[in-house]
Amino acid sequence: MTPDPSSNSVDDPLFDSGHHIFANKDLLKIGHVPEADRIVGRDDEISKLAKRLNGAVHGYSPENVMIYGKTGTGKSLVSRHVSQRAQNAADGDVDIGTAYLDCAEDNTETQAISSLAAKLNDESVTGITVPHTGLSTSKYYKLLWETLDAQFDSIIIILDEIDLMNDDSVLMKLSRAEEAGKIDCSVGIIAISNKIQYVDNLNERVKSSFQHKELFFKPYDANQLREIMFNREDAFHDDVLSDDVIPLSAAFAAQEHGDARKAIDILRHAGEVAYEDGADQVTEHHVRQAQQHAEKDRFRELVSGAPTQAKAALLALTELSVNSNDEAFLTSRVYDRYELICEHLDMDVLSVRRFRDILKEQAFLGVVEIEKINKGSAGGIHLQNRLIEDPQVVRETILEDSRLQDWARE
Ligand SMILES: Nc1ncnc2c1ncn2[C@@H]1O[C@H](COP(=O)(O)OP(=O)(O)OP(=O)(O)O)[C@@H](O)[C@H]1O
Ligand SMILES: [Mg+2]
Repeated sequence: MTPDPSSNSVDDPLFDSGHHIFANKDLLKIGHVPEADRIVGRDDEISKLAKRLNGAVHGYSPENVMIYGKTGTGKSLVSRHVSQRAQNAADGDVDIGTAYLDCAEDNTETQAISSLAAKLNDESVTGITVPHTGLSTSKYYKLLWETLDAQFDSIIIILDEIDLMNDDSVLMKLSRAEEAGKIDCSVGIIAISNKIQYVDNLNERVKSSFQHKELFFKPYDANQLREIMFNREDAFHDDVLSDDVIPLSAAFAAQEHGDARKAIDILRHAGEVAYEDGADQVTEHHVRQAQQHAEKDRFRELVSGAPTQAKAALLALTELSVNSNDEAFLTSRVYDRYELICEHLDMDVLSVRRFRDILKEQAFLGVVEIEKINKGSAGGIHLQNRLIEDPQVVRETILEDSRLQDWARE
């Protein structure tokens, strides 16, 4: 575990008295679920979701809900918050269980079901042991059903980032379990995704078993972002934040879309930078540094998560940029270099047309900038491509990919 200087509690003069910037850094952790009065601008979504889950509170079937919205719009937070409140509000003789599953982590059917069974099982009540690994998928389902029946009248399951789950049958089997007579416990599912087409792409059988209502979360505006941060101001000691820190962090986070995660990240990071600088206060300067850092991280994530062909295309552009004084290159030149790279690495060479699409996509993501040049009536329109970040940084990130490393070993 990484030691957290803000959680110092022993008063020993040998050590400094704690963190002079953060009073309670946990408030700025992403998984942290703030109390109701710190949640901003989501009253409507909270009450709509509560309505859907209302059945669970009285021991009958909650409705399934699909939540959509861009990143950092509070989907995970609101789902956890409302299911927690449903659990607390349960009628006296109704037992509600709640489980949160991060499908990015547990992305296979077996992992998802074993993880749910393990989370929901209270061995002292059920007498059931759920081994971490080693059982077949169907055995894990069986354990899950037994666990549910032994403990709950109704259950709310949050399937977060469900588009990353590589098997739709989880959704189907969970939504059908009660109807199929597998269990005597009502199941409500909150599925979360930032891909709006997620349900459309499901196969018909899954779609028909996962009857659901949809809920959309809109991005926050700069005022809401500001309020979200002011509500967690006590993460810092009094007077540590200079006045412009929160407004500036909000402005940065509102620039792309209103992403609360980004706002909180920048704020936390600004505090860390100030601490490392030995400053007494967090200032605008620290926020700017934090923002730059966040941009770099985001960029690295974009590049390292790109498909191999896109990386080969970017590699071609970085090779040209690193070895020349020019910054922008005609698509045909980048394509020639791309062909060389593919041949060298034994990769398929895409058509020029597909190649252009890849560059366009990278431009859309903000990795590449494409400029149109008009070469007059005879020459027509040409496209020039330029890397937005430092080509060396892009190159290093691409070459972290083992499939492309051979290129560097010439
Ligand atoms: N309305 C809000 N009030 C207070 N804090 C919020 C609010 N919305 C989001 N946050 C905070 O912002 C961060 C991101 O929120 P959350 O994780 O819920 O976003 P998300 O929509 O699930 O994003 P993603 O799609 O990337 O998973 C969390 O730290 C959360 O506590
Ligand atoms: Mg989330």
